[in-house]
Amino acid sequence: MWRASILTLFPDMFPGPLGFSLAGKALAAGLWTLDAVDIRGHATDKHRSVDDTPAGGGPGMVMRADVLARAIDAVAPAGDARPRLAMSPRGVPLTQERVEALARGPGAVILCGRFEGVDERVIEGRGFEEISVGDYVLSGGEIAAFTLLDACVRLLPGVMGKEASGAEESFAQGLLEYPQYTRPQLWEGRAIPDVLTGGDHAKIAAWRRAAAERLTRARRPDLWAAHVARVGAPAKPRKRPNQKPEPDG
Ligand SMILES: C[S@@+](CC[C@H](N)C(=O)[O-])C[C@H]1O[C@@H](n2cnc3c(N)ncnc32)[C@H](O)[C@@H]1O
Repeated sequence: MWRASILTLFPDMFPGPLGFSLAGKALAAGLWTLDAVDIRGHATDKHRSVDDTPAGGGPGMVMRADVLARAIDAVAPAGDARPRLAMSPRGVPLTQERVEALARGPGAVILCGRFEGVDERVIEGRGFEEISVGDYVLSGGEIAAFTLLDACVRLLPGVMGKEASGAEESFAQGLLEYPQYTRPQLWEGRAIPDVLTGGDHAKIAAWRRAAAERLTRARRPDLWAAHVARVGAPAKPRKRPNQKPEPDG
């Protein structure tokens, strides 16, 4: 059973979007569990304070190490083998590879920051790894936690309808996914590429592979460089006489 514990100032946000669709059905079926722990419940003063002004000055407030540590220790005592992840814009970027590794594990303990973030000492002292969901700043870690959890839960055994549907997706082979089409065959003057409706599986696979490579090269030079380093550059298609150049590269 994959177990997620969320430390948050807004426990009522959960399960939120994770209560719907694949993740929601899997939650109801007991394929994973989620407990959202109210950090404020671990404050001890009469105002139930969870934050204070930044040491050294500056704007905003910082979440207090002592309050956070009590919440963490209550939900994940020493010996809990789950990885401890603090959502943070300065964290290690989340990747599909990391998501796959997390989904293979026992679950996760996720700390959602607010304000200017959390006191550094609790990250160090309680062994949290900071994880980012992108190079932009959210107002809180909860939406980042939804992202991480959704990405993990859909990979848990029994959650996705066809086990195969994960294998060809973006990032699974180090490439972005090829374009998808469905009926109607002709929509607003745009037709589905003939090769996809011709029934020749080898040609379909070759078309998809070439499209995935073209998209990755155009949109994600970082992924493309890593792909070429791993498998080598694809063979250039032989140019037929009078052939028009491809639209984007
Ligand atoms: C307003 S942000 C704090 C930003 C922080 N002062 C900084 O500049 O790095 C509040 C919280 O939102 C969450 N957060 C914001 N952006 C994020 C991102 N890109 N990835 C993951 N978590 C993020 C973190 O939990 C963070 O503690």
